[in-house]
Amino acid sequence: MRVEVLPVEKWAGTVAAEFEDRLGPGLRLCLATGATPIPVYSLLASDALASSTVFLLDEFGGLPPGHPGRCETMLRSALLDRVPAREFHFPVVDATDLEIECRRYRDLIDDGGLDLAVLGLGMNGHLGLNEPGSGAQQPTRVVELTPETRDGARRYGANPPPNWGLAMGLVEILAAREVWLLVTGPTKAEVLDGVVNGPVTEQLPASLLRGHPNAVIWADEEAGSLM
Ligand code: PGA
Repeated sequence: MRVEVLPVEKWAGTVAAEFEDRLGPGLRLCLATGATPIPVYSLLASDALASSTVFLLDEFGGLPPGHPGRCETMLRSALLDRVPAREFHFPVVDATDLEIECRRYRDLIDDGGLDLAVLGLGMNGHLGLNEPGSGAQQPTRVVELTPETRDGARRYGANPPPNWGLAMGLVEILAAREVWLLVTGPTKAEVLDGVVNGPVTEQLPASLLRGHPNAVIWADEEAGSLM
């Protein structure tokens, strides 16, 4: 795993430039929402995703369509409304049969796989909605959310916060040809230190990236201060 620690003021510009370098015709991307990637997304050129297919990393359950706390809404307003993708796929949490929906989404991802997955890091070490205890073999599925993740959803305006979600599985994420973990701010320093220097354990799902052949952590100096 490669670890890049960048000055706070250079972080978003560097990651955005690296991201644009990767883009090419037909690229298949998994993109996260949350606060961390927003400064990167805001720097991308308006045609950056014109030939890419974007898969949303996860979605909260129980919020009405269009709710500002829904991951789909967040990705549209932080990125896709200004930088449209050739194709955008997301898990439909309003589907009547969620098991069928999970299979549909998983098959769509598997049909070509992912070239690059861009992820954030949860305060509890989760990747997407793969909470502590999630194994590398777990596929896209419905998950119960931990109190830390529910707090995160509250920050995004979901109040009361959802208690379940639909998670792209670690098996699909770890099969991506390249995985990026974006981490900023002093509140992530301790968990990031655990991801890089602690044991590789399902209790800290992001540590499983250490077994990935092409994973990069893009941290700013605040998040990287304890490593
Ligand atoms: P954040 O969320 O970018 O809003 O900190 C990351 C996450 O919980 O995965």
